[in-house]
Amino acid sequence: MAEDTLTITDNRTGQEYTLPITDGTIRATDLQQLRIDDGDSGLMAYDPAYLNTASCRSAITYIDGDAGILRYRGYPIEQLAEDATFLETAFLLLEGELPTAEQLHRWEEDVRYHTYVHTNVQKFLEGFRYDAHPMGMLLGAVGALSTFYPDAKDIGDPDGRYLQRVRLMAKLPTIAAYVFRHSHGLPYVLPRNDLDYIGNFVNMTFEIGGRHEPSPVLQRSLEILLVLHADHEQNCSTSAVRGVGSSHVDPFSAVSAGIAALYGPLHGGANEAVLRMLDQIGTKANVPGFIEEVKAGKGRLMGFGHRVYKSYDPRAKLIKRVADDVFEQTGLNPKLEIALELERIALEDEYFVSRRLYPNVDFYSGLIYQAMGYPTDYFTVLFALGRLPGWIAQWEEMLGDPEQKISRPRQVYVGEGERPYVPRADRG
Ligand code: ACO
Repeated sequence: MAEDTLTITDNRTGQEYTLPITDGTIRATDLQQLRIDDGDSGLMAYDPAYLNTASCRSAITYIDGDAGILRYRGYPIEQLAEDATFLETAFLLLEGELPTAEQLHRWEEDVRYHTYVHTNVQKFLEGFRYDAHPMGMLLGAVGALSTFYPDAKDIGDPDGRYLQRVRLMAKLPTIAAYVFRHSHGLPYVLPRNDLDYIGNFVNMTFEIGGRHEPSPVLQRSLEILLVLHADHEQNCSTSAVRGVGSSHVDPFSAVSAGIAALYGPLHGGANEAVLRMLDQIGTKANVPGFIEEVKAGKGRLMGFGHRVYKSYDPRAKLIKRVADDVFEQTGLNPKLEIALELERIALEDEYFVSRRLYPNVDFYSGLIYQAMGYPTDYFTVLFALGRLPGWIAQWEEMLGDPEQKISRPRQVYVGEGERPYVPRADRG
């Protein structure tokens, strides 16, 4: 019978080693026993950008990138998007099981109770310039929350962790809405605890003089988008939350690191970049020319490609359906025609096919957010609202994992050898 081991011969020494294989992995630290002599600190695995390195064991999200499968705690994303609310999904990610009616009620009530933020947070936001990027404001404000809740430092206390979890879930929509109002020069709208999670957020962003008429279709569509974004295992921002959290800093600081990572155009900022790209293309007739430029290496087709999905991103499929519901309500976004044409050509083009580049979650989400009335530079804030439960769940899983330590990769030093300091006057 085949053994779950790997036998390696170190040709430098002729020595043979047998390493255990567990869950399809070898332990990189097992390689340390491969040494040339006693002074050698052992063989390392070199893996820039963690292309083939598992950094943790996780029971939260399962992805099969080749088959286009995404599941939270075992539940297919398609079923959650169809039936689950966002808070229910958050409970599932955080607790591991779907809530009973009673658990869901308590969770919703706890979150509802904590939606207000200290008025100094409002003052803090007022300090930002009128044209400050919403993600810059969001990450600053969430980081600042740690100063309002010094008890959050006690990450070893399960009750305390629950409280911070509730505070983050409850206050992020309030802060996100204040950021929106700040960008528009509008007064802040206080949370309304008679509304549900999504209804309250939408009201805080769009209410003006009692004239905002909520649309159940748009609110459910936003909720589905948040469910689709709620976790995605060890992506850049989640790894940032885990990495920063591994220093045992409070969760507000760790989450603000996640927001910073999400801000980048290669990650959550891609939905914003897609809209700018569609603006730049301008008309459907310009699409073939734009595709040629991408193929010639002059920029990327934003919203295409993924580190893990090498087939159609299952979230992009679901988002396309949401788009139909939203556009039926709001009327067609003219940029949709350009996006559909880009997708049609790219899915047939050898360049994209051979590299297995398919639309990702960000390709259509920006068009939907725009139709809902959110400005382009605000899209990633909506992504952050969705990803929050995943960040918290992954942070707590990391803290409870006895194998985890402070995150600290190794390096291969390629710089100068030792050399004497040259006095300033002697440097040519
Ligand atoms: N447009 C054109 N070419 C692309 C694209 C793209 N969007 N993405 C990858 N490629 C090409 C690369 O140039 C490379 O080609 P080469 O082999 O000839 O050099 C090949 O495909 C592999 O690309 P990598 O950069 O090695 O793939 P990686 O896994 O590192 O990158 C990423 C993944 C960052 C998502 C990339 O596909 C990309 O930049 N996409 C556009 C930005 C985007 O949409 N990001 C959102 C991702 S989803 C999310 O974060 C929520």
